[in-house]
Amino acid sequence: MSEIKNNIYIKAMETSHIKELVLIEKACFSKPWTQEGFFAELRNDTAKFYVALYEEKAVGYMGIYIICDEGYVANIAVMPEYRRQGIAGRLIENAVQVCKNGGASFLSLEVRVSNNAAVALYEKYGFKKVGERKNFYSAPKENAYIMTLNLTEDNQ
Ligand code: COA
Repeated sequence: MSEIKNNIYIKAMETSHIKELVLIEKACFSKPWTQEGFFAELRNDTAKFYVALYEEKAVGYMGIYIICDEGYVANIAVMPEYRRQGIAGRLIENAVQVCKNGGASFLSLEVRVSNNAAVALYEKYGFKKVGERKNFYSAPKENAYIMTLNLTEDNQ
């Protein structure tokens, strides 16, 4: 197991993390979330956002919403230079536990059909493709796979 993976701490997002989360967004997405977007999630009762800290710096994050018995992935991202070290996996394991504790029976998400890394990540953690949304994304326009993880199966 890598030195980085062993020294990653997953913590609930706080105001002090937001500047670093904006840097992660800019490094990862064509339409990055802004500071205001993250602040709004801190005030949103259904939102549960977690950061992956390495040497006290946020190097990844994952946000989910839990509404009734449904968990939904808002986003997940890891700084390019910290990828393939198991950080997203740690974030997903944490989110699954948070969903189970919050009474969710499944966790769903959308992902660009061309995003092979993210699709492989989700499949590794048991998500299944259950549908496709046409032109769900812009910049560039692209379809989304809808993927779902059942949290009530025995093997979860
Ligand atoms: N190619 C193929 N499979 C990949 C992959 C890649 N580039 N990156 C991750 N995976 C899969 C592998 O199965 C991997 O397991 P392995 O290393 O044992 O083979 C598994 O995911 C776990 O990888 P992990 O190291 O935990 O992922 P990561 O920390 O590198 O983060 C993303 C993965 C997708 C979050 C990261 O690439 C990222 O931030 N991408 C840009 C943002 C993004 O697309 N977010 C998803 C929005 S829906």
